[in-house]
Amino acid sequence: MNKYVVFILSILFINVSRAEFKFVGSVVSYNKTGDEIELKLTNALFNIYVIDNNIIRFRYTDKNSFSAAPSYAVIYNNEKTIPFRFADDGKYLTISTGDLNVHIFKSPCRLKIYDKDMNLINEDDRSFGVGFDGNEVRCFKELLEGERFYGLGEKTGPLEKTGNQYTMWNSDHPAYNAKTDPLYESIPFFIGVREKKAYGIFFDNTYKSYFNMGASSKRFYWFGADGGEMDYYFIAGPEIKKVISSYTMLTGRMEMPPKWALGYQQSKWSYYPEFKVRDIAKNFREKKIPCDVIYLDIDYMDGYRVFTWDSARFPDPARMLADLKNEGFKIVPIIDPGIKADSNYFAAKEGITDGLFAKYPDGTVYQGEVWPSWSYFPDFTMKKTRDWWGEKLNTLLKTGVEGFWNDMNEPAVWGNSFPDIVRFSDNGFGADHKKIHNVYALEEAKATFDAFHKYSPNKRHFMLTRAGFAGIQRYSAVWTGDNVANNESLRLACTMSLGMGLSGVPFIGSDVGGFIGVGTPNLYTRWMELGAFTPFFRAHSQKNQKDKEPWAFGDEVEKNVKNIISLRYKLLPYIYNEFHNASITGLPLMRPMFFDFQNDDNCYENKAQYQYMFGENILVAPVLDEKSTFKELYLPEGYWYDWWTDKVYQGGKWIIVSAPVDRIPLFIKEGAIIPEQPVEQYVGEKTDSLLTVIVFPSKQSSYDFYEDDGITFNYKKGEYSETEIKSEISGNTGRITVKKIHDGYKSEHKTTLFKVLNISSLSSVKNNLKDLTGYPSKTDLNKIDEGYFFDRIKSTVFIKIPGFDNINISYQK
Ligand code: GLC
Repeated sequence: MNKYVVFILSILFINVSRAEFKFVGSVVSYNKTGDEIELKLTNALFNIYVIDNNIIRFRYTDKNSFSAAPSYAVIYNNEKTIPFRFADDGKYLTISTGDLNVHIFKSPCRLKIYDKDMNLINEDDRSFGVGFDGNEVRCFKELLEGERFYGLGEKTGPLEKTGNQYTMWNSDHPAYNAKTDPLYESIPFFIGVREKKAYGIFFDNTYKSYFNMGASSKRFYWFGADGGEMDYYFIAGPEIKKVISSYTMLTGRMEMPPKWALGYQQSKWSYYPEFKVRDIAKNFREKKIPCDVIYLDIDYMDGYRVFTWDSARFPDPARMLADLKNEGFKIVPIIDPGIKADSNYFAAKEGITDGLFAKYPDGTVYQGEVWPSWSYFPDFTMKKTRDWWGEKLNTLLKTGVEGFWNDMNEPAVWGNSFPDIVRFSDNGFGADHKKIHNVYALEEAKATFDAFHKYSPNKRHFMLTRAGFAGIQRYSAVWTGDNVANNESLRLACTMSLGMGLSGVPFIGSDVGGFIGVGTPNLYTRWMELGAFTPFFRAHSQKNQKDKEPWAFGDEVEKNVKNIISLRYKLLPYIYNEFHNASITGLPLMRPMFFDFQNDDNCYENKAQYQYMFGENILVAPVLDEKSTFKELYLPEGYWYDWWTDKVYQGGKWIIVSAPVDRIPLFIKEGAIIPEQPVEQYVGEKTDSLLTVIVFPSKQSSYDFYEDDGITFNYKKGEYSETEIKSEISGNTGRITVKKIHDGYKSEHKTTLFKVLNISSLSSVKNNLKDLTGYPSKTDLNKIDEGYFFDRIKSTVFIKIPGFDNINISYQK
């Protein structure tokens, strides 16, 4: 064959093998049944489901029918009927719910989505809309003027995703940096904000997917996947809160974790043998640095065989775990999914005999290489495998471990992915790796979650995972994987955690101190400060490198870090309350500034991504540069109280504050009510009877304070208490009232100390009309049960009242 013929043939071949994008075409017919509208388009089937007034599902396929396999992510059971208007308006069909008006143009078939007042929220690209190229599916959306994007789960780079492209394919990428994509988690959900109004799109597709948020084109943004259906949920706000709440209504919300999981957690690859673990525990208690959890990394196992112990290193695990439990420590071991392909290993034998592992299409069991060398991989998309996995986990639970740390579950096979052809059950529907890869960890987490509920049904569980998919929040906490001990990773620890919160995952944190590399004392301290104000707070570091315990960097660092961990423990009542709220609403604890201040332009600025609200009342502005000793930050409208200096700032402006290395800038919002407790060495150590309630009075504010036993699910049977705390000021009179609104759990707090801020003068204090005695100092107040002390210098009044109900304080300024 001469060169010319080869050239012509290759052009022909390319043309034959590469299909062109085929768009959906026009509406041929439609039919409405209940909440559903089925349309036949020239080149596709198109179903529309009204899920709620603000949620509509759009589902397209170019196949002859829709897939019968259920969603992995969506668990919402659409039982309620949503009344909506459906009309044929000639050029377009109209769907009107209370919140949304959707126009479905007929030729070509395109969507325009309006709010209830007919303001345009979102529209398909005028020519492209939805299209297919072979197995690939894609949706093109008009990029509207001023539109900004957020979310997309665990993504590096800036918190705002506008102008960038991202891939969803769970990937093990040690030492990632601000440009690395993709990483461990895939959450194909994003939030669009335009003119301060928000909507969300959740693309319910588990294949490798892509989100081009206006990179390389200012005409449209697009999302698509290598396979599956174009199946997405459109969620209208306009509040960002409403969007996230609706998204988590679909994909599930975090279950209340045990209270101890909010405490400080210490990890290292690896603590062994047994005396090392005991030594770490002893050090924490001797040094009086609070700590609740110690992790066991891969070296606790016998040759990395999951569900085993190395008997030389840990001769009597049950005893070690029991002893440590007495000291208030919970032990969480790492669990890797790879089962060593060893014919003498019970888990390998059982899995082979019972057909529990992923296989090649010819029926031979797939093997990939990871820590234990060549390994089999459980097919978690099969109930039988999940149940078996649960039984195995139960052997560890019976030994006394308190939680599981799921790692390498992308699934990782030394930085690669399984071959695409590897087969999984897909709950009986059958699928290859292309479909299952991104949900492998989700299904492993489901197996773990089900095991907890089966084997210890009334005990709350703790699980930590590296990989996951949309919905992972209903099973597990997530950490952001193998970061680096440098400033870049420190900043990412802030922005990635914020991004995960916006993507429905509230229980999130990073390897505090940086996993890879040593870092400096300052970097470590700054990271601890950030960690203390991150929902999941754990230090972890790589093998064979400097330790990262609080005492590893010398006395000065130890003192500072001890203070910051202690502050975390003081604030546990507040943090626990925020966890409770998150478990009900699906909203994050760690919130970007625009989340609470959606109408404030400053909050969308690039530099505002390095500060956040931690819960509804505390503004946190971490120093994310180890060399810096000041911080520039934005205070929204209203007044803000500086935690450290007692200074009150008027907001609505950017300020620069001094931030010596032992101080993370913290500000209390006007109107804030913040419960605080004395420091404990671990959660539940001494159930101290004093509850401090910090109040920064505004004209009127209130706070619902939730308490329960912190360990069981008895709260689901009503065994919790909810106390409403109100503060108001009118003229010269301030009032604070405390009233139980649900009394199903006996509060441990026998005495309440109100710490009322920003009070410049005081003449009298009453409780339930009775005059209280003023005492000359805080020390005097500490000795009695009832009374007050006015600290004129700090403009703070301390009011001490027995009990924590039926309190009606009034104070005269
Ligand atoms: C992975 C994990 C890391 C762990 C290591 C050894 O790199 O991300 O946290 O320490 O494996 O198990």
